[in-house]
Amino acid sequence: MEKKLSNKVAVITGGSAGIGLATAKLFAAEGAKVVITGRKLDALNNAAKEIGHGAIAVQADSSNLLDLERLYKTVNEKFGKIDVLIANAAVYILSPLANFTEEQFDKQSNINFKGTFFTIQKALNYLNDEASIILLSSIANTKAMPGHSSYSATKAAIRSMGRSFAVELLPRKIRVNVMTPGPIDTDVLDQVTSTKEEASSMKAGMAQFTPVKRLGKPEEIAAGLLYLASDDSKFMLGAELILDGGIMSL
Ligand SMILES: NC(=O)c1ccc[n+]([C@@H]2O[C@H](COP(=O)([O-])OP(=O)(O)OC[C@H]3O[C@@H](n4cnc5c(N)ncnc54)[C@H](OP(=O)(O)O)[C@@H]3O)[C@@H](O)[C@H]2O)c1
Repeated sequence: MEKKLSNKVAVITGGSAGIGLATAKLFAAEGAKVVITGRKLDALNNAAKEIGHGAIAVQADSSNLLDLERLYKTVNEKFGKIDVLIANAAVYILSPLANFTEEQFDKQSNINFKGTFFTIQKALNYLNDEASIILLSSIANTKAMPGHSSYSATKAAIRSMGRSFAVELLPRKIRVNVMTPGPIDTDVLDQVTSTKEEASSMKAGMAQFTPVKRLGKPEEIAAGLLYLASDDSKFMLGAELILDGGIMSL
């Protein structure tokens, strides 16, 4: 069967773990030349090996504009122009409104909101016309949950940018869409819990919260991202694909 991303150049920020890593593996298996980013070098190198198919890793912090410029120059030198860009890197910082610090707010905004904005802006000269861009949001972009106000606002900003970028990039036939996952079984909860037991119990609570009574798998989000990245979704732009086990509708 023909591969969906044969010879396409795909950049996935935050590709060393979770959804980004599952997506990198799927895209590479579908014929893409994959580039992943992240801040931790060891994790990146291990991920690149796991992905195989000649995937490369570039250490780059999405909130750092110089890192983004270096990333795109490297991709261009190595593989040429970009066909698929997944702005996936984000952090998950939760705390009650009363306790949220300025430092936490700045970190989350810088990576999730500013980072996503400049991940796209700095890529503009390196994207092929007709490229596909996908921004990772979350059901938190509309669903209110305690402790989530800062995270949710960054994800609502990302949903909004998906529409604005889509209209601005229409003349180049570059499609921009947003992926909106519900709770997915990754290590993201390690950022908001102090022990593995606490993370497991939080995951169990989230699973009960979904109509399907389970967390989503990173591979299920990767499959949706493949649809958005490939020509199968040619008629879709400025839109949102919600993969949430039914939370938002049931
Ligand atoms: N898991 C969920 O339940 C869920 C639900 C809804 C939406 N999402 C969204 O889906 C995306 C992926 O989530 P995930 O669960 O796969 O997260 P994850 O397992 O925590 O992985 C996050 C990835 O992003 C990288 N990263 C974090 N900050 C970065 C930065 N400043 N620059 C570059 N890379 C950075 C991490 O590597 P380093 O730490 O080495 O930088 C890692 O590779 C995020 O946008 C998240 O908000 C997740």
